[in-house]
Amino acid sequence: MTGPPTPPNPATKSTGSYNVSYASLALAGVTGAGLYYFFEKTKSDRHARAALKGAQHAKVVGQADIGGPFTLTDASTKKLFSSEQLKGGYSLLYFGFCHCPDICPDELEKIASAIDMVDKGSNGATKVTPVFITLDPERDGPAQVAPYVKEFHPRMIGLTGSKEEITKVTKSWRVYYTKAGVGEMTGNGGGAADDDYLIDHSIITYLLDKDGNFVTFFGKNYTDAEMAQRLLDICK
Ligand code: NI
Repeated sequence: MTGPPTPPNPATKSTGSYNVSYASLALAGVTGAGLYYFFEKTKSDRHARAALKGAQHAKVVGQADIGGPFTLTDASTKKLFSSEQLKGGYSLLYFGFCHCPDICPDELEKIASAIDMVDKGSNGATKVTPVFITLDPERDGPAQVAPYVKEFHPRMIGLTGSKEEITKVTKSWRVYYTKAGVGEMTGNGGGAADDDYLIDHSIITYLLDKDGNFVTFFGKNYTDAEMAQRLLDICK
């Protein structure tokens, strides 16, 4: 590599070229440096720092390499939920955790708002299903996740699972996350309780097509209206 790639032009993001350029870079096998600019845009918080770290670890993130089937537990029914059940319609996958103080609620509100805009903009013809997958299986069992997702959208599906199941799905979707901030919330430092922690994680919303395949993703820089417009353009 002879130098850093040109950062994407924010002025073009609503047309989706931001994502396209990311996908192209990824397909071309550009490594950490290419992804750096994507995460650089949202570096202002702990989540983004984690995402950046994750990006540096990502060697080749080709479109074909992102995603894959998964089986988790639907928090509302406590029954197994297969990604097969999402087929037939478009869906948005977001990975986060219920104790997240700000970023996850903001992103989930944005997703919910975008989905309502898509409902309206398509006169109900396009129904995108929002899906939340917890990165915190230790604390986020069905009893936590079920009411949490309903706060955001009546159609939002909340999924949890064992630590191993969550690890598996996050690997296939290239989600970076790590426990952080142990003790920060109480100021107890290393002496904090085991369940007092935050999770640094990448902030990416993935769009899946009717066959459950990865189509594109939305970063934190998207507004609800921009996300809705892009969904209306793609989801026919
Ligand atoms: Ni979060």
